[in-house]
Amino acid sequence: MHPIEKLEEEIKYLHCNPTISKQGLSDAETKELYNSFWNIHVKSVIEYSKQMAKKYNANLDVVWLGALLHDIARLEDLEPHDEIGSEKAYNLLIEKGFDRNLAEKVKNVVLKHRCRKYPPETLEEKIIASADAMAHFLPPFYLWIVKYSTNDFPEFMERNSRKIDRDYHEKIFFDEEREMIEEQYSALKKWFDFKIK
Ligand SMILES: [Fe+2]
Repeated sequence: MHPIEKLEEEIKYLHCNPTISKQGLSDAETKELYNSFWNIHVKSVIEYSKQMAKKYNANLDVVWLGALLHDIARLEDLEPHDEIGSEKAYNLLIEKGFDRNLAEKVKNVVLKHRCRKYPPETLEEKIIASADAMAHFLPPFYLWIVKYSTNDFPEFMERNSRKIDRDYHEKIFFDEEREMIEEQYSALKKWFDFKIK
């Protein structure tokens, strides 16, 4: 088995068997949350990233591992998940015997995927940031988010309206990919900005 494929199986297993209990959720609910997180989010980020790596001639190993590990700190509910996750990803890759230079690149991909304090610079960093944002526009994503949201309803709508604007305008670095999700962005924007009179 390809070493990254093997690691993917291990990370998938961790999502299906989380080691923490989310506050306010039973163990079964926590398990369901992370299981859906894997299926709805992480898997989609891997898929989008691999497609873009091929299309834009990026380093596939860096992109694949970056997508796989970009939210690794979320598995233990650790924030800031970009900073903590980048260290965790690096240590995990070294422990698994991956090349130090590769691990270093993946570390930076994880650190910069949120486009906040650390803006993406390399092609691979831009691909993961874009794929992460694109995956937020897949139909099940916000249905999954609302299930676990603790915000009141108007706040939930406002926050998500801001989130999709940021994802769409600031996190997608490729025009064609932005166009691919334009329709879904407009539809969600209408939903989140709808005001009950
Ligand atoms: Fe993510």
